[in-house]
Amino acid sequence: EVWNPNGKYRVISTKPMPGTRWIRLLTDQDCRVEICTQKKTILSVEDILALIGDKCDGVIGQLTEDWGEVLFSGLSRAGGRAFSNMAVGYNNVDVNAANKYGVAVGNTPGVLTETTAELAASLSLSASRRIVEADEFMRAGLYDGWLPHLFVGNLLKGQTVGVIGAGRIGSAYARMMIEGFKMNLIYYDLYQATRLEKFVTAYGEFLKSSGEQPVTWKRAATMEEVLREADLISLHPVLDKTTYHLINKERLSIMKKEAILVNCSRGPVVDEVALVEHLKENPMFRVGLDVFEDEPYMKPGLADMKNAIVVPHIASASKWTREGMATLAALNVLGKIKGYPVWSDPNR
Ligand code: DGY
Repeated sequence: EVWNPNGKYRVISTKPMPGTRWIRLLTDQDCRVEICTQKKTILSVEDILALIGDKCDGVIGQLTEDWGEVLFSGLSRAGGRAFSNMAVGYNNVDVNAANKYGVAVGNTPGVLTETTAELAASLSLSASRRIVEADEFMRAGLYDGWLPHLFVGNLLKGQTVGVIGAGRIGSAYARMMIEGFKMNLIYYDLYQATRLEKFVTAYGEFLKSSGEQPVTWKRAATMEEVLREADLISLHPVLDKTTYHLINKERLSIMKKEAILVNCSRGPVVDEVALVEHLKENPMFRVGLDVFEDEPYMKPGLADMKNAIVVPHIASASKWTREGMATLAALNVLGKIKGYPVWSDPNR
């Protein structure tokens, strides 16, 4: 699909993206926009090189693509100086290779913070109240009357939510769980989440002044402390060498037997084979997963686990957010092409 065929700058989007604002932004600034409409979900390096061709000024790509040495050298040979991932995460992008070939890299933070946190909250509630199991039970025609023990789950109020990685998304999630469900907070992050701490303190004081039990917060000195103490744990770190298999067999074993683990960050943060074993051995332990180690696949056994809720990497999938991500990705590429500042550069 081609927009503004006579535009001076050739910009490629490796996928159709929601909305038209991002297209207009580019075409209004003399860009010819080419959108790849290939049916194949995941494009290979060769597919993308073919799209880039001999002349290409910038590319908007997706987190399923491997943006390394080969693609950045190819883009650079075609005269390209700009690449943006349509994602906040950029573990699929070799930023050093991009720097080496003089290609600026952008990502799309901010617009997906609340949407992603809302999915983490949805998975938390769904796991806690066994929503998916109960839905399957109803549809299977198994409900034959109210029973005192039918699908008994947890009450989140007064329990402790553990957040690992209290950046933008982790903090937004923590606020939702604290304010929405009056949970106490324990978090682990290399940096102090000052605004989050201030929020919990103020909210705790408000509850106290209304005669309610105040909520509390604690910044853990180690991740293990969070894993031991929290009833519900949500993972929000970036994926890099230091966070690969952050949640492994040993760390799973110190979590409460009835804890809930939610992952809306990146699949390889959790050792999925160890997780499947843990779910088998601990039927009261529950997980809500948006991401997987070998996407789009799940490790053997995971799909059979009743104590797991699995959804296909949809954390940022609200209309507003996806249109915003597309727009930011276009702005990033346009910025570099036209010499404006790149809207979001993960190097900074
Ligand atoms: C991201 O932006 O990194 C998400 O995983 C996809 O929305």
